[in-house]
Amino acid sequence: MKKQLEKLKNEIIDNLDKVKSSDVLRALEIKYLGRKGELTKILRGIADLSVEEKKILGKMANEVKTELQAKFKRAKEMIEGSAAAEGFIDVTLPAGEKINRGHLHPITQVQNELEDLFTSMGFMVLDGPELESDYYAFEALNIPAHHPARDTQDTFYITKETGKETKSPIGDLVSGVFGEASDLVMRPHTSPVQIRAMRKYGAPLRLVVPGKVFRSEALDANHEHTFYQLEGLMVGEDISISNLTAVLKEMLSGILKQEVELRLRPGYFPFVEPGFEIDIKCTICNGPGCPSCKYGGWLEMLGAGLVHPNVLRAGGIDPEKYSGFAFGMGINRLAMMKYGIDDIRWFNSGDLRFLNQF
Ligand code: DAH
Repeated sequence: MKKQLEKLKNEIIDNLDKVKSSDVLRALEIKYLGRKGELTKILRGIADLSVEEKKILGKMANEVKTELQAKFKRAKEMIEGSAAAEGFIDVTLPAGEKINRGHLHPITQVQNELEDLFTSMGFMVLDGPELESDYYAFEALNIPAHHPARDTQDTFYITKETGKETKSPIGDLVSGVFGEASDLVMRPHTSPVQIRAMRKYGAPLRLVVPGKVFRSEALDANHEHTFYQLEGLMVGEDISISNLTAVLKEMLSGILKQEVELRLRPGYFPFVEPGFEIDIKCTICNGPGCPSCKYGGWLEMLGAGLVHPNVLRAGGIDPEKYSGFAFGMGINRLAMMKYGIDDIRWFNSGDLRFLNQF
């Protein structure tokens, strides 16, 4: 009987090693340990033995039983564990309803990449109000009331409701209740945050401001009423145009995933002196000219310059001690270039045929 018990134990262990599925395991458990199982039969047989034999074999049989029970338990855990690890999929289940996941808007994707590039160069990422005061939007940026830049910005001016019939702010073609001019505008650029940041943090300073801007202009493939800009400002001792070009090159090469070549042309912006229009060598033809660069070989990218002393002063920074560079770039424009988008109006269209491509 002792031999029989040994034999059965080895047989069970052998079988357990081979088991791969829980169905087979359950069948084995019934076969050996079940109510009518083989081990159970042997254990019942012990009752007929002599007292002496009962003592020895009974103890042994119980040990074998507990050992086997433990082994079955472990085998069960292993099988269930590996099924979970393989991500058990029941192909007979109905497929269910597919949930469409959204994704970030292409402008947001480019903005996030820009933020990463600038934070890696030690720039802060700041925000500013979209409804801005005339003072921050123009006055503090060296754009006085009579300055022609106020017109060229084509700004949305906000009026105060008075309930009284007043002259239309956009000419005689329309009439009605228009209210009086307030000192608030929908910001036409992100530059006002330069002043807010200088006042808040002082010098030295490195920051970028991505954000929405608004212009009241005729819409076409290159002009939108609502678009995104990225403003940049770096103030410190001895900041020069070399710092500006180094930072811009790093940023543009990073975002367009290729080495870019810059070209600086003189440009006029009241808040910088000197001011530049900055172009990059056409990323499609690399110079000789193609339809993308209108055969000029260069693509206009952004406005920039060294911060005007009046602007530093408006920000509470001493222009005798500090200098700085600033730039303003259209994020939509950059995204159009990066992805080859031909019309700026796609961005605000909400058209899924467009959005799903990103
Ligand atoms: N604010 C300008 C615009 O919206 C862009 C710009 C030009 C920003 C030159 C700057 C700058 O900071 O230095 O057209």
